[in-house]
Amino acid sequence: MNPSNYKILVTGGTGYIGSHTSVKLLQEGFSIVLIDNLSNSSINVLNRIKELTNINFDFIEGDIRDKRLLRRIFKEHKFDAVIHFAGLKAVKESEEKPLNYFENNISGSIVLLNEMDRANVNCLVFSSSATVYGEPSETKCSEDSQLCPKNIYGQTKLIIEEILTSLKKIQPKWKIVNLRYFNPIGAHPSGLIGEDPNGEPNNLMPYISQVAIGKRDKLFIFGDDYNTTDGSGKRDYIHIQDLADGHIATLKKLLQGSPLKININLGTGKSYSVFEVINAFEKASSKTIPFEIISRREGDVGEIYADITYANDNLDWSPKFDINDMCKDAWRWQSKNPNGYNE
Ligand code: NAD
Ligand code: UFG
Repeated sequence: MNPSNYKILVTGGTGYIGSHTSVKLLQEGFSIVLIDNLSNSSINVLNRIKELTNINFDFIEGDIRDKRLLRRIFKEHKFDAVIHFAGLKAVKESEEKPLNYFENNISGSIVLLNEMDRANVNCLVFSSSATVYGEPSETKCSEDSQLCPKNIYGQTKLIIEEILTSLKKIQPKWKIVNLRYFNPIGAHPSGLIGEDPNGEPNNLMPYISQVAIGKRDKLFIFGDDYNTTDGSGKRDYIHIQDLADGHIATLKKLLQGSPLKININLGTGKSYSVFEVINAFEKASSKTIPFEIISRREGDVGEIYADITYANDNLDWSPKFDINDMCKDAWRWQSKNPNGYNE
């Protein structure tokens, strides 16, 4: 296939995963248009993407719930596919403001799907999450494992997955994949783009990075009494560059008309404990990460990791980077940009 024949709409394109995927899309030769309301990202991302690729692309500041805006965009551009990253993703906030999450994530996706359909664009890669598995009965999750999200955020992902599954079943013209990401971390190896959370980070890697740079005194480890190798929580961390490659691989298959299962896990198939991540980060940064062990975080599971057999066998994709690469790149981004995109 020749990517330069294809134009892709990337929703949430200035966000963490969207920006890394956009760089890869441009470098592969795809034409792209990004839409983002900048509710959780910075306009400065755009210059960084341009600096990395030296390729022009359009950016629209706007909301995917804005039907008239979407209608205009789909009229102006002849898209072949959409990669749909736009959404709210903070677990705790989703429990505090459930209606915001239903509105933004679910209604937003429905507005997008309607406008895609009107414009005869029926190819979609959707950002789902391992959070749909909730507390699995087995630590290794395949796409067929039981689904039981434990919070409102996860529920929004499962509801969208179900809508997309029904849509594809009833109208086979739709080519859809729900990518279930495990734990994306790290940054582009240039240190020009990376994860830039607002306020106190919810997730492990940005928290560790901010301790290393001196913005926070210590890491709080949420429990060391799980039934895991060292008692701390174990997760399947995947390098953001591998995750971005997974999107390119999925998109190419869909555009070529290859039949794919609708739900696909993207992880590495290995899990690391909090202590193992701290050790790898200390090695990568030559910094010491002080920590304090506190009680478990509500809703956390002891261990979960991906069965990636299907992705390996069907996407011409496999993860290349290990936990040391992830920590090195996360630290390069943090140390080059102590205040993230706030220059
Ligand atoms: P992010 O917050 O960095 O990116 C999401 C982007 O969407 C942001 O730039 C935000 O401004 C934008 N956005 C939100 N609502 C919008 C709306 N209504 N209209 C237009 N733009 C809107 O998050 P991310 O980590 O890049 O995640 C991307 C997607 O992947 C999300 O859907 C998230 O739920 C999903 N996901 C993320 C993770 C993770 O750990 N990062 C794991 C699993 C799934
Ligand atoms: N942890 C700490 N201290 C912290 C942050 C995290 O000890 O300050 C521990 C957690 O208890 C867990 C591990 O580090 O054992 C990873 O926690 P994260 O918050 O980084 O990741 P989660 O697996 O809890 O959840 C993340 C996203 C979810 C997403 C899921 C799977 O927050 O939205 O990955 O993709 F669904």
